[in-house]
Amino acid sequence: MRAVVYDTYGPPEVLRFEDVERPVPKDDEVLIKVHATTVNRMDVHIREAQRRYGRVASMLSRLISGVRRPRQPILGTEFAGEVVAVGPSVKEFAVGDRVFGSSGLRFGAHAEFMCMRENYRIAHMPAGMSFEEAAPICDGALNALMCLKEALPLKGRRILIYGASGAIGSAGVQLARHFGADVTAVTSTKNLELVKSLGADRVIDYTQEDFTKNGQTYDVIFDAVGKHSFRRSKGSLEPHGVYLPTDGFENLFLALWTPRFSGKKVVFQIPPRQTKQDVLFLKELVEAGEYRPVIDRRYPLEKVIEATRYVETERKTGNVVLNVISGSAR
Ligand SMILES: NC(=O)c1ccc[n+]([C@@H]2O[C@H](COP(=O)([O-])OP(=O)(O)OC[C@H]3O[C@@H](n4cnc5c(N)ncnc54)[C@H](OP(=O)(O)O)[C@@H]3O)[C@@H](O)[C@H]2O)c1
Repeated sequence: MRAVVYDTYGPPEVLRFEDVERPVPKDDEVLIKVHATTVNRMDVHIREAQRRYGRVASMLSRLISGVRRPRQPILGTEFAGEVVAVGPSVKEFAVGDRVFGSSGLRFGAHAEFMCMRENYRIAHMPAGMSFEEAAPICDGALNALMCLKEALPLKGRRILIYGASGAIGSAGVQLARHFGADVTAVTSTKNLELVKSLGADRVIDYTQEDFTKNGQTYDVIFDAVGKHSFRRSKGSLEPHGVYLPTDGFENLFLALWTPRFSGKKVVFQIPPRQTKQDVLFLKELVEAGEYRPVIDRRYPLEKVIEATRYVETERKTGNVVLNVISGSAR
């Protein structure tokens, strides 16, 4: 089968096409013909071994993905496609089912075929959705859900979501709204209307206004894009307010320290947990019309390097889809 592979850490140009062996499903696995996938920030971090975050981050990244070279040569964490074979003990899925999900750190979706365990993060596609629409359901939303769960219940509470136009932020706004929060979203001028349409009660344009200086306070501040900090946000948190980060090593230490010694605290799921139940929950939300992944650009798989360069600008709005098979918009 055709796949995008890499065998050394580095810039997007380390990615290349290769004919590799088609995977064979184990007992409890399904073989999926991938129609659409995405390029996301996890693909970027792992491919470059987090080198832009310094040596310690790079070492930790390599411990996960392979010290000298990547153990898994095929990136891609999200997929939507069709089941073409099943292992003998598979009960939930059958040949011909349309499925979507997230392989997480197992990657493998930047290829024509991939295997997934049936009890991992895979589900039937929401009714009426195309492969292209279903591929980006998981990445931003699973990350946002993992963070927001730490601040539940949110009903009637005031949350500020910083960086509301990214994959995590655009999902975060919709999920916070689903949980009944009063949502203030911070974004730049060009994304104000989009973020409002996702359900934010009010939007702040960060190019015009600094939310830390307007006198408003919040029960929860969710930095969905890793560009803010607990220190700078503290004055905008209520006395027992919670700060939810998505990035930054210092937050790891703050998450251990602040819950013990401070009213205002940094909360972070350690270790991170994303489950099949979460994927089923997202499917329900999509079907109920309460969540839709935002798609910024679409590229054919052949343009994976171009797509990756765009994701690396850190300016994408929502998600970037790769169509593995042309016609994935159906
Ligand atoms: N996605 C993952 O799998 C994953 C997993 C773990 C951790 N993370 C981390 O989580 C963070 C968010 O990931 P993501 O995938 O949601 O990011 P993303 O989609 O790449 O975020 C891009 C968005 O961020 C906004 N942005 C850029 N600079 C900003 C700033 N200074 N202030 C406010 N907004 C800004 C941009 O909007 P404007 O151009 O309008 O500013 C753009 O819409 C990253 O730090 C990432 O490393 C991601």
